[in-house]
Amino acid sequence: MLSVPQTSLLVLASATAAASATVDLKWHAPGSGNKVNNLTAALKSDGVYGFIYDSSHTPDKTYGTYNWCNMPHARKTEYVKASSDYELKYVEVIQRHHKRTPYASNAFPVEPYEWNCDDQGLYYFGRPFTNKGKSAAETYWVGVTGDINPFVPSGWIGSCQFPQISAAGLDDSWTHGNDLYGVYHDLLNFLPSRNKDWRKKVVFRVTNNQITSQVASMFINGMWGTTESVPLVIQAKGVDSLEPQYTCTTGSNLFSTIQSSSNSAWEQHLTKTSDLFKKMDDISGVPSTDSGFHVSWDHYYDNLSARKCHGKPLPCKLVDGKNSSTCVDEETANAVFRMGQWEYSQIYRDASSSLAASSTSYGVWVAELASHLRAVIAGKSKTIYLHNFAHDGSTSRLLSILQIDDMVWPGMGSEIVFELYQKKKNNAENTSGYYVRVLFSGKTLKSSNPSLGLMDMVPVETLLAYFDGLVGENASLVKGKCSGSISV
Ligand SMILES: *[C@@H]1O[C@H](CO)[C@@H](O)[C@H](O)[C@H]1NC(C)=O
Ligand SMILES: *[C@@H]1O[C@H](CO)[C@@H](O)[C@H](O)[C@H]1NC(C)=O
Ligand SMILES: *[C@@H]1O[C@H](CO)[C@@H](O)[C@H](O)[C@H]1NC(C)=O
Ligand SMILES: *[C@@H]1O[C@H](CO)[C@@H](O)[C@H](O)[C@H]1NC(C)=O
Repeated sequence: MLSVPQTSLLVLASATAAASATVDLKWHAPGSGNKVNNLTAALKSDGVYGFIYDSSHTPDKTYGTYNWCNMPHARKTEYVKASSDYELKYVEVIQRHHKRTPYASNAFPVEPYEWNCDDQGLYYFGRPFTNKGKSAAETYWVGVTGDINPFVPSGWIGSCQFPQISAAGLDDSWTHGNDLYGVYHDLLNFLPSRNKDWRKKVVFRVTNNQITSQVASMFINGMWGTTESVPLVIQAKGVDSLEPQYTCTTGSNLFSTIQSSSNSAWEQHLTKTSDLFKKMDDISGVPSTDSGFHVSWDHYYDNLSARKCHGKPLPCKLVDGKNSSTCVDEETANAVFRMGQWEYSQIYRDASSSLAASSTSYGVWVAELASHLRAVIAGKSKTIYLHNFAHDGSTSRLLSILQIDDMVWPGMGSEIVFELYQKKKNNAENTSGYYVRVLFSGKTLKSSNPSLGLMDMVPVETLLAYFDGLVGENASLVKGKCSGSISV
């Protein structure tokens, strides 16, 4: 997509070699700014650290507050412009999809109500590019429950695909695209006008999970106002680096070990929440032997948070097919949410093997990002804006690699932005004069790694040396590390 001839990299490569001698490639524990990783506090407190779980709307005066249903992103109103000494050259964004129904695997054995999606269409069609007088109708899927079909799907019932971006999540996707246009066009005049030729300068990328395409379609209309065809770049199932889907045994093993009894912190959090599990199992009817629900709080979290984000009631225990008065109350839901937050911090930041787990399993995407930065610096790229539509497994791994100081579970629409700037004057000797600013939730990301620190104008040599050190230029180390033939 963005390839660079080797000769143009010579200057940068030597500068990178100089920086790599000093860059710190080690894992560093998250800092005291982390709100969610104190197990004692997570078990005892009420509420969820002031985080929002029940609406996509965050009031303007508190915008920036964690909102699971619709995470904060860069907007004109809050965006902090870089000093005028720096000129913006390239922007790459990665975001989690917006709010959706739960996954089928997260349904209770018998769900107390249907979840319908009759308020939208999932367009799915093929259209040949060689037009011999034939075109395609804009066909879309309508979920139906066959009147005659005696087989009932397990889990959720209703006309949605599970998962599917909800109508409200589609609205959030549109607003997200419109807001980023507000920043990168209206405010910075970096993206071209909507009526100009933006198509050669902008790339959109999705994963094999259809929900990312659903978000992309609304986002792109929000950003560019077009209802015309727009290509979405996608890698093949099974090897896609964005989701990620490629096989990485080392990464999988390290993540499994973090979430096992050999990690005493993990074991302790499960033991100390056994009563909470009993309560949730009783209401949901999930058997206590169902390992999917009991290895972590992930399933119950998804289950409850999706309901709350869509204004649906918390579920009650069904007795003889009817709602009883034993229900999940707010306090119980909050306790589940605090445990989910603790787990994400543990898996992606607190465990010392998290960096190796993430940099192997997400190393290819990181190397792709690095190659895009190099291409821009070498003057070999037409692309000025690349937007990746991805998942929490993608954004969590990236935050893990960047060693974010204050880890959270990246909620719906979570956004990480890489802005590449060129400094106009006063460059230090032997640097390319390029710098990177990284934003998470619209604010400058703070890393616990001392080489990265507050990621506000990090010399690109430092960031590239860090990425290269972990994953190799062009991902040269990833296959070896993933298969165990190079140690991590
Ligand atoms: C990385 O890939 C680019 C583009 O294919 C190539 O020009 C460059 O030489 C490669 N770098 C290394 C270190 O192999
Ligand atoms: C964790 O939270 C508990 C209870 O609020 C508090 O007493 C303790 O000091 C905290 N531990 C750390 C390391 O902050
Ligand atoms: C249980 O309660 C929910 C929410 O109030 C309601 O939508 C649903 O129809 C009820 N389910 C049954 C089986 O009565
Ligand atoms: C810049 O590079 C030259 C040649 O590699 C080297 O001699 C010099 O010490 C470098 N300067 C700095 C400040 O690193």
